[in-house]
Amino acid sequence: MEAYPPEKLQEEDEAPVIFLMATHGEGEPTDNAAAFYRFFEEERCDNLKSVKFAVFGLGNRQYQHFGAMGVWADAKVAALGGTRLHELAIGDDDQGDMEGEFEAWRESLWRTLCGADAADSASAARSLAPAAAQFECTWLGPAGSEAAAAAPADALTFLSRAHPKHAVHACRVASACELAQQPQHGSVKHLELACAAPTAKDTAARLTYAMADDLAVYPDNGAALAASVAARLGLELEQVFELTLTLTLTLTLTPTLTLTLTLTLTLTLNPNPNPT
Ligand SMILES: Cc1cc2nc3c(=O)[nH]c(=O)nc-3n(C[C@H](O)[C@H](O)[C@H](O)COP(=O)(O)O)c2cc1C
Repeated sequence: MEAYPPEKLQEEDEAPVIFLMATHGEGEPTDNAAAFYRFFEEERCDNLKSVKFAVFGLGNRQYQHFGAMGVWADAKVAALGGTRLHELAIGDDDQGDMEGEFEAWRESLWRTLCGADAADSASAARSLAPAAAQFECTWLGPAGSEAAAAAPADALTFLSRAHPKHAVHACRVASACELAQQPQHGSVKHLELACAAPTAKDTAARLTYAMADDLAVYPDNGAALAASVAARLGLELEQVFELTLTLTLTLTLTPTLTLTLTLTLTLTLNPNPNPT
């Protein structure tokens, strides 16, 4: 949300706008929604008549202002003339089943959107049109070459640049065990991470924890899968490329990157999408 300029919202007159709004503090916006919230609270926009929207809030019933930001977004956009495509729902991460509540809301939203599309043949035709490319790719040469000098050399350097506000560590998984009785219906794993001070033998960085810290895990597709995808696409892993935006978007792109890091760290690859 922090990447989206709030003044753009009043120009959204085609695609539905879906808000996923968590509440933090005491009924306050999350850090990445703070500027958006301020913009509308300061009444810097008086018309969202072209906006078709739906809101899912994330909250916790233990708090006095349960799902306040979801309630706020839903009411604010409607008050400024937006068309509500679906009723507000708020998932509860205390007693509730947040994922289940979200899935139910999402499916119901899709049914509404498909129904609306079927009734509107113009928008059905639009949804079949190929998406316009938003960037151009330039191949710069192999990693290590002068032209490709800006590319991060390894995963930690790339992740640290991509997430400058976070301390990024390589950390060994000391143990992993499955807790779900029927993991085919959804897996819940107990993981233990080796976070001791580094030693000569174990170079895992020291992780520390303070109350309310979050742990984010950056998944890695692995070298073998990246290599097989590159081979299938006829591309060389060590080549470095650069993406240039062709549309006016407020998006931060990692400027130059090897295909290896792209395929291992930035894409979700499913090695066996259709097991039979
Ligand atoms: C410091 C803190 C304050 C919170 N305040 C509220 C609150 O006022 N109202 C509410 O409904 N939920 C509150 N929550 C719960 C979060 O909205 C809920 O955990 C949500 O799933 C967080 O989503 P996120 O992890 O994507 O930020 C709070 C959570 C934290 C950690």
